[in-house]
Amino acid sequence: MVQLGEAMMTNRVFINDVGPRDGLQNQAQILTPQQRLQLIHSLTKAGLDGVEVGAFVSPKAVPAMAGTDIICQHLPTAQCHYSTLIPNMKGFELARQNKISLASLVIATSNTMNKKNIRMDNSQTLTMIKEVIAASNNTGVEVQVYLATAWECPFEGPTLPGQVIDMAASLLESGASRLVIADTIGAGNPQAVNSLMSTLVEQFGANTFACHFHDTRAMGLANVYAALEAGIRQFDASIAGLGGCPFAPGASGNVATEDVAMMCEQMGFETKIDMKALLDASDLAIELTKTARGGNAKTWLRKHIAA
Ligand code: COA
Ligand code: ZN
Repeated sequence: MVQLGEAMMTNRVFINDVGPRDGLQNQAQILTPQQRLQLIHSLTKAGLDGVEVGAFVSPKAVPAMAGTDIICQHLPTAQCHYSTLIPNMKGFELARQNKISLASLVIATSNTMNKKNIRMDNSQTLTMIKEVIAASNNTGVEVQVYLATAWECPFEGPTLPGQVIDMAASLLESGASRLVIADTIGAGNPQAVNSLMSTLVEQFGANTFACHFHDTRAMGLANVYAALEAGIRQFDASIAGLGGCPFAPGASGNVATEDVAMMCEQMGFETKIDMKALLDASDLAIELTKTARGGNAKTWLRKHIAA
């Protein structure tokens, strides 16, 4: 796993592409496992640090993620942390059986969102998370937790920072290896992001967190900057800006990987991403889904960096 202590010294930023999961789960057109593998392959060729390759969830709940086991069996050998989303213990068992070394649980800040997403309220979800983390001991599967709707819930409105801080404390105490603070519907603004992430970093350390932003209100990249300023060095992003959540009304695509990588590099951070290969992956995401918009910086990048 990523050694963030080292990362802070070297100004290294780690990017995990969630396009093959967060991106594809929300598409009208369902891709075949072969097409999903093609996209994953193109992302590993671009040198991404991590790729979220699928989800071990109910295929009735999210039909686009069916066949994640097939994906896991054919992942390219690469210096890349492959992860899958899991909603419960059954998901954990499937991740373990399929030799995935990083599994991501999700808890939203609101009861309504948790019930819509995984059919459990906050307290049931916390209990389940503790059980899964306990079961993961000595299995070789690391369990991280997404703290969803961290700035706003589409059903219950704005989230109080104090609630996120309390939940973070409880999840870390339970043994979560890392927390991904997620702006599920893209409602956070740079000031709110900087404020919350600075507090979390101060209390629990920067290495403990990653951030996950959606670009619904065009503030995704500004929010990445705000989190960088707070000391965060691990980010989710989605190739070509794919993304959204079928259970969160109004959630649009994630901040595009090509935009995040370009901003970080131009600010002097190191991502180790091959920009030309990344733009090829973005082209492929657009070709496969026919809906992805592509990063805002793509035209400029093609002309100036990856011609
Ligand atoms: N993977 C695959 N199948 C699963 C599963 C998992 N992790 N967990 C449960 N199931 C199956 C059960 O085996 C059962 O199958 P059956 O109908 O063939 O017997 C069926 O799903 C219903 O099981 P149940 O425990 O009653 O689940 P539920 O209907 O209450 O749904 C979840 C709960 C968590 C499985 C479902 O809501 C889900 O998969 N949510 C994921 C949402 C998601 O991916 N959100 C992404 C945004 S973060
Ligand atoms: Zn998301």
